[in-house]
Amino acid sequence: MPDETRERWSGKLGIIMAVAGSAIGLGNFLRFPAKAAANGGGAFMVPYLVALLLFGIPLMWIEWTTGRYGGAFGHRTAPGMFHSLWRHPAIKYFGLIGIFGPIVVFIYYTYVESWTLAYAFFSLFGEYGGATDQAGMKGFLASYQGLNNSHFNGLAVAYAFFLVTFLVNCWILFRGITKGIEWLCRWAMPVLFILGIALAVRVLTLPPDPADSSRNVLNGLGYMWNPDFSALKNPDVWLEAAGQIFFTLSVGFGVILTYASYLSRRDDVALSGLTGASTNELAEVILGGTIIIPAAFIFFGKAEMAGIARSGTFDLGFVTMPLIFERLPLGNVFGAAWFLLLFLAGITSSISLAQPAVAFLKDELGITKRKAAILFIIITFILCQPAIFFYGNGVLGELDFWACNFCLVVFATIETILFGWFFGIDRAWTEMHYGADIRVPRLYRYVIRYVTPTFLLVILAAWFLQTGPPTLRPGNIRDWPALCAKLRHGPPAAEFVDGWPAPGPGLARLLPRDAQVAVTEVRRDRAFGWEHKAAVLSGLNQLLERSVLFEDGVFRRVSLPTNVQQFLKTDRGKWSKEDVQWLNRSLLQAAFPEHIGPRRAKIIEVLLMVDVADPDRPYILGTRIMLVVLFLGLYIGLQIAWRKRRDVWDRTEPPEEAQP
Ligand code: PHE
Repeated sequence: MPDETRERWSGKLGIIMAVAGSAIGLGNFLRFPAKAAANGGGAFMVPYLVALLLFGIPLMWIEWTTGRYGGAFGHRTAPGMFHSLWRHPAIKYFGLIGIFGPIVVFIYYTYVESWTLAYAFFSLFGEYGGATDQAGMKGFLASYQGLNNSHFNGLAVAYAFFLVTFLVNCWILFRGITKGIEWLCRWAMPVLFILGIALAVRVLTLPPDPADSSRNVLNGLGYMWNPDFSALKNPDVWLEAAGQIFFTLSVGFGVILTYASYLSRRDDVALSGLTGASTNELAEVILGGTIIIPAAFIFFGKAEMAGIARSGTFDLGFVTMPLIFERLPLGNVFGAAWFLLLFLAGITSSISLAQPAVAFLKDELGITKRKAAILFIIITFILCQPAIFFYGNGVLGELDFWACNFCLVVFATIETILFGWFFGIDRAWTEMHYGADIRVPRLYRYVIRYVTPTFLLVILAAWFLQTGPPTLRPGNIRDWPALCAKLRHGPPAAEFVDGWPAPGPGLARLLPRDAQVAVTEVRRDRAFGWEHKAAVLSGLNQLLERSVLFEDGVFRRVSLPTNVQQFLKTDRGKWSKEDVQWLNRSLLQAAFPEHIGPRRAKIIEVLLMVDVADPDRPYILGTRIMLVVLFLGLYIGLQIAWRKRRDVWDRTEPPEEAQP
């Protein structure tokens, strides 16, 4: 083991590149422009900058300092590091979130990363299955993701690209810190910047649309950046901004802790942390803010933009951008450049997500490099499968929800309070300034001690009060607001056939009038009663009876049993909770007769708390069970590590050679 404990970055540039590589990812080029354009444009930058100064940069310093400090004690991951900050027997278990969260992101992030690789090939070697408009391109993407058979037969192509991406990730990880991660980031980051600058210049020099001169670059930039200050009154905009800062800087997950643990105690953290964060912001605001949205504006004009900007992160990158490249001279080269940029941004991030788990296996459990490698590959490979095969059932969204909305905030809160209060701001401040190349303004003592934790606690409380209960509450129908939102927007990638209208207004339009009203009301005030539920359910039942067939096969043509049909005609005001449950169940049975017999539906519903109105529930539940198993596995791992390396865990001072 000793040679592994001595693993180090080769220099300051090495770790800065690696941290910047982790931070600059799909979030910068896809998530940021989509969020900013949808949340007030330039005005989004107000909460964004506030979040950057109040959590982003302080957390960067906290993670760099904690990582280096814990590293000096011989720890590479959060459990040991938390233990070295505060010797409470329970704290190490909270540290497990810092390994768990990154693994959860890793298992879907690598899949999305593999799409970028595939699309780089699609752009270079041909058109995207001949798709020339939004609907066609969406269909192509959906087919690639295995949601329909229009262009691809099943998932074989997507799976092949996933395998390549996964193996490249593993290969880099197992070459280690300097020969793998640092080596990759040292060349990939400059290449990424060159590609990003080239694409930004291409967009900025695009001629205005000949038919409509208002479709020009300036107006495109204006679309992205003109502030709509009224957005600031909406608390969701502030939450979105905070979420974007965490995600884009890779803070609050645990990955920077691990990277910083390979520093020597004499290395600077204050300036390096700031440099890593600034490099990310440069890539995000300047490059990320210049490419997608202005280009889409020039090609599609204002009228179509609203829909495009709201259509979400993936559609912007994988639907809108390919359409633009198709119309551009040398478009296949620019298209390939765009997707290669995304791939490089993605891979330098995904390896950072894997590193905590790898380091935990190698250093805390003392497994040899080779065995740790094999174990990591097997476990994460298995965990990746649901997100790939059940993408259409919302597994990816569920993973993202737990990692990026829940674990992240909990972890960031614990880590900040530990640092500023239990370790103590005086020691923390001194530790942060060992070997420092700059002095951090004193104001940040107060920010780290009071402001950052207060804001994090507020976000956490808001989460538990607002998002938590509907998500966690057991019962027959758990998440009505989400179900209604789904009904309004339609299931993902659903295309209507047989002359039914195109997505846009969503499924709700197909529902009977009273069900439409109920959907809108539930969505608007989140207050809902049995009448609403009854209306929506009976609407869904009636919808199922009609010959509506969605391309992704979510709903089929069904014939409801006569007693259900009869029941639907009774006065809804008289329905009881049991009636709603019964109706709910009959709905699922009718839609999925071959999967769910009457007995199984009952068992699933009662025991596993499945929301029967939403056929994706079993998948969501399965995902949650998988996450629980993963966490338990890590818990057992930690118990073993704790027994095995008691001497290391019991150290009260960093060993001699690590003294500053
Ligand atoms: N920061 C990365 C991005 O912007 C994502 C990421 C999050 C990477 C957390 C590592 C840890 O895409």
